[in-house]
Amino acid sequence: MTVQPDRKQEPIALRTVRKALPHDSAEKHVSGTATYIDDAIEPTGTLHVAPGWARHAVRGKLVSLDLSEVRATPGVIAVLTSEDIPGVNDCSSAFGDDPVLAEDEILFFGQVAFAVVAETRDIARKAALKGKIDVAPITPILTPDDAVAADTTVLPDYQFRRGSPETGLQASKNILSGSMNIGGQEHFYLEGQVAMATPQEDNGMLILSSTQHPTEIQHTVAKVLGVPDATVTAEVRRMGGGFGGKESQANQWAALAALAARITGKTCKVRLDRDDDMIMTGKRHDFKVNWKVGHDDTGLIRAVDLEFLARCGYSADLSLGVNDRTMFHADSSYFYPDASIRSRRLRTDTCSNTAFRGFGGPQGMLAAERLIDAIAISLGKDPLTVRKLNFYDGERNVTPYGMPVEEFEVMHDLISTLEARSEYWIRREEITAFNENNAVLKKGLALTPVKFGISFTLKHLNQAGALVHLYTDGSIHLNHGGTEMGQGLYQKVAQVVAEEFGVTMDKVVITATNTSKVPNTGPTAASSGTDLNAMAAKIAAREIKSRLISMLCETHQCGPDMVLFSDNKVLVGDRSYTLAEVAKQGYTGRIQMSHAGFYATPGITWDRETVSGRPFYYFAFGGACSEVTIDTMTGEMIVDRVDILHDVGHSLNPAIDLGQIEGGFVQGMGWLTTEELVWDEEGRLRTHAPSTYKIPTASDIPDHFDVQLYESTGNPQDTVYRSKAVGEPPVMLANSVFCAINDAVASLAPFEVPSLDAPATPEAIMRAVQDMRRRKAGA
Ligand code: MTE
Ligand code: MOS
Repeated sequence: MTVQPDRKQEPIALRTVRKALPHDSAEKHVSGTATYIDDAIEPTGTLHVAPGWARHAVRGKLVSLDLSEVRATPGVIAVLTSEDIPGVNDCSSAFGDDPVLAEDEILFFGQVAFAVVAETRDIARKAALKGKIDVAPITPILTPDDAVAADTTVLPDYQFRRGSPETGLQASKNILSGSMNIGGQEHFYLEGQVAMATPQEDNGMLILSSTQHPTEIQHTVAKVLGVPDATVTAEVRRMGGGFGGKESQANQWAALAALAARITGKTCKVRLDRDDDMIMTGKRHDFKVNWKVGHDDTGLIRAVDLEFLARCGYSADLSLGVNDRTMFHADSSYFYPDASIRSRRLRTDTCSNTAFRGFGGPQGMLAAERLIDAIAISLGKDPLTVRKLNFYDGERNVTPYGMPVEEFEVMHDLISTLEARSEYWIRREEITAFNENNAVLKKGLALTPVKFGISFTLKHLNQAGALVHLYTDGSIHLNHGGTEMGQGLYQKVAQVVAEEFGVTMDKVVITATNTSKVPNTGPTAASSGTDLNAMAAKIAAREIKSRLISMLCETHQCGPDMVLFSDNKVLVGDRSYTLAEVAKQGYTGRIQMSHAGFYATPGITWDRETVSGRPFYYFAFGGACSEVTIDTMTGEMIVDRVDILHDVGHSLNPAIDLGQIEGGFVQGMGWLTTEELVWDEEGRLRTHAPSTYKIPTASDIPDHFDVQLYESTGNPQDTVYRSKAVGEPPVMLANSVFCAINDAVASLAPFEVPSLDAPATPEAIMRAVQDMRRRKAGA
């Protein structure tokens, strides 16, 4: 870790912020004492809910639903269908197209048709198998190609256009084109979807939900039950991982738990079985990308034409924002003078794809890296040379959507530092020699950039609230609208509040996110949890502090610069108090020692209709250099070495940031190498358990894995202590692994661009290798 010794912008020494303190729950995580929803104490008489679904049906009319055997099962208390819903049968975030329980149609393999409420989870699950669901099948639309042919979309097409890509392509000396498939990804959060609902007085409902978006749980439950929002409270202390999979897709399970609780009058819990979870919930969007690029003999890009065909599934869900973000990142870090970036949001009869760490960005960026690799290979140049040639710089620094890349120098400096640190050029020579001397094993190397836009592109989501109380014993109660999914948000916000009050961390008590404490929140997503919530909490803490400072100034007849909150003390001139003493004075002096802080990100002006304005507050940058070896006889692959340099501005907590970078990279590597979703010809997901779906394990981490924080001069924007968001950007560092595999395959035939698809599983690598051998043989 590189710690920056000289932070000129910080006039006072920071005591808590910037410290590599452990995650607030680290000890509880490893000792099994961190409470997840399934660990919450169940009130006497708690009932359990299991979803019932048509295991043979993919798409079709629901002809009949015979639930008599389910109802007759001993221990079954109730069986719920769409007719039992008192409010609206919809759990979508926005578009009204996600039924909680099927009405007259089965829309995809895994659609919930009914729900069983029983005394135990086992009884509910077994009884759910006894439902007789008669479906008149319709031939399903499964792939992006099928959907294009049938012209079915969940949302209208959208496009960024700059200059004239047609003229630009015509004027280009060289034109390359191709298409590439990019696979989806299952979230595989360790804690699956779970919700527990307890009826309250006067039609009220309390929901514990493993969700990234408690406010949306509140809205959904109120809508489904047909009650006012104010009667529903949603709470979440922590998730065992969310990764975007609990941004909208926790709604259905909370709604089912609440419906069951309303009908039975008991606490009801839904905890999905892992296979059901994998089958029923949406995943990272998979894409077919059609690309065309015009460039000169140096490799400089003149014009780009990109078409992104996304498999969205049966409903819109978050596909608008996800696919927009794919478009926003289809430039990676490269300047496109003329560009057309088009997106089709295709409707398929599959689960409804959703947010996944990077929110569409990784797919857009991978397509850009494919362009660069294709140019470099076809010209016989090193891909890194072509990457750097096309980087945004002083004259060429405006993205296809009109936002300037102000910090292009940070990007250049980061990449050249990494280039030196990873000994890229020495290793390039070694790898070339290795490949000449080895017929079967081939090595590949790639250094790829990350530039990730920070802010929700849906402007109104860029707001947050926090609630801080100072009690008379000097302890501080901290609450905010952000949710904790392992990323360390609670810890970072608590550090900021401790810093503000000048106290040690033990004085700040972290509490569960709760819609009755902080209302009207956005999801914890877009990596902006800390940027938003830590700012709101800082504002709240500062307000309480300033009221106390005014009080002290009055009692001591001094100016505010004579008061200092530091080292668990409050210093007023030469007098020293504990925070408890000051809080007691505040109480007897009738000072309000509670405040609701509010923050809205400034400077965001994106207008989707007119395709203009500024969508992002700033960019986070990074770079990764990966070396791989492939076996051209079997397709096996090993990642030998990875060097990462990542920009988090001035880190709030370097230990947590490094953890996010390592975890994000490994998750991205899994997406691009081993995690393959397979649907059969009938549209049934066949990879719905860890037996067939391979996430990376500890042993997949390369032997040499060097992860460092970039020595930043701080975020130029006025973010909390000049930090930058870190949650999602590191996923895209893994593009270097995919490009390194591509580089290894490319070594088989000079000037030939490999046809490698993602994920680069051994099968995909073998296909690309055999294709190269055929081409080399001139077939
Ligand atoms: N890290 C852990 N351990 N678990 C998670 O579920 N989700 C990621 C990222 N890092 C996730 C994680 C995603 S998708 C996002 S958007 C951010 O964390 C959200 O948190 P933040 O905004 O506080 O960074
Ligand atoms: Mo993250 S995909 O924005 O929840």
